[in-house]
Amino acid sequence: MAPSQFVPPVAGPELAAYGGQLRDSFGRPITDLRISVTDRCNFRCVYCRSADPETHVAEGHLLTWEEMERLARILIGLGIRKVRVTGGEPLVRPGVENFIARLHMLGVADLAITTNGHLLAEKCEALIAAGLNRINISLDSLDPVKFERITRTRSLDRVLAGIAVAQKSLLRPVKVNAVLVRGINDDEVEAFAEFAREHDLIMRFIEFMPLDGDRHWSRESVVTNDEVLRRVQARCSLTEISHERSETARRYRFAGGRGEIGLISPVSQPFCGHCSRIRLTADGKVRTCLFSQKDHDLRALLRGGADDSAVEHRIREVVHQKERGHRINETGFTPPSRTMVSIGG
Ligand code: GTP
Ligand code: 5AD
Ligand code: SF4
Repeated sequence: MAPSQFVPPVAGPELAAYGGQLRDSFGRPITDLRISVTDRCNFRCVYCRSADPETHVAEGHLLTWEEMERLARILIGLGIRKVRVTGGEPLVRPGVENFIARLHMLGVADLAITTNGHLLAEKCEALIAAGLNRINISLDSLDPVKFERITRTRSLDRVLAGIAVAQKSLLRPVKVNAVLVRGINDDEVEAFAEFAREHDLIMRFIEFMPLDGDRHWSRESVVTNDEVLRRVQARCSLTEISHERSETARRYRFAGGRGEIGLISPVSQPFCGHCSRIRLTADGKVRTCLFSQKDHDLRALLRGGADDSAVEHRIREVVHQKERGHRINETGFTPPSRTMVSIGG
């Protein structure tokens, strides 16, 4: 992570009033919050969504913007410093720019979004005006045919246009995410690396995790990041650069200074030991781990009239139940029955 992104857990009087920095039972400070604002998405990526018709959360079960803002405010009071807005696809929910502005006004030190890029070119300016600092954009193929096979859309040009707009904007850094799936896009590693160099951006390779709707994941379908590194290094020289312990990606800069790659290896090299994340799902549940079998509802508490200190108390209890890590590599591992981003990415 670049030094400007480093967000230390806060200590001292600011937090003392709330009983101190939020921590889990393993002592990990919880400083990062991912808020999913919708379960809907305008893509149907094969590593995520099912090919079958989808059902969506009923409108009334989604948190309102006001409810999300309230929870964000309480969580910031507990030491959250990084907020990432996700989905589904966050840009499909009307009003998301306004919500970013509200988060900005709450004083979020690091305010980011993860998007598939389809609506980005048209929304980028408004997001920046609202106070967005950084953006991560998915791009799983540079080939229109494969892009369509993966996302089940024909939006490659729109996504590329979105990336270009983001790059010309004030958003820094712009990160591009590709989930590699063996037999689908693993032949594009070198092309993605070249894309990073050519456009001077951060290209991140993500190992496919067992969180896809159709349960097609298998160990053989994972392209390990050791392989990615070997293949990129066979073409060009890379220098490893430091990253924050809780950051998902290991980072490498190209010799010559233009572009960077990031390796996100949740399967081959889990980074749970330094996890600082919790998630808020679009329907108002706290998810303490991507692989949690159970989420913890806050919506009923909010709608039942609980005051802030009751909500805060519940959050501390829930965070205390955060899992040590995922168990993908343990015998008997069973993935949760939902996907990664259907309701809380
Ligand atoms: P930065 O703050 O920019 O480093 O973002 P990020 O990497 O945390 O967020 P992004 O939404 O871009 O996620 C990229 C990938 O990281 C996801 O596709 C996941 O594969 C992985 N990832 C993000 N959060 C977690 C997590 O909590 N656990 C695991 N195992 N993987 C995660
Ligand atoms: N494995 C790895 N990454 C995934 N994402 C969605 N599903 C999976 C999966 N099964 C990624 C998206 C995006 C981020 C929010 O999650 O590509 O980068
Ligand atoms: Fe954190 Fe769970 Fe992700 Fe591991 S799998 S990094 S513990 S959220």
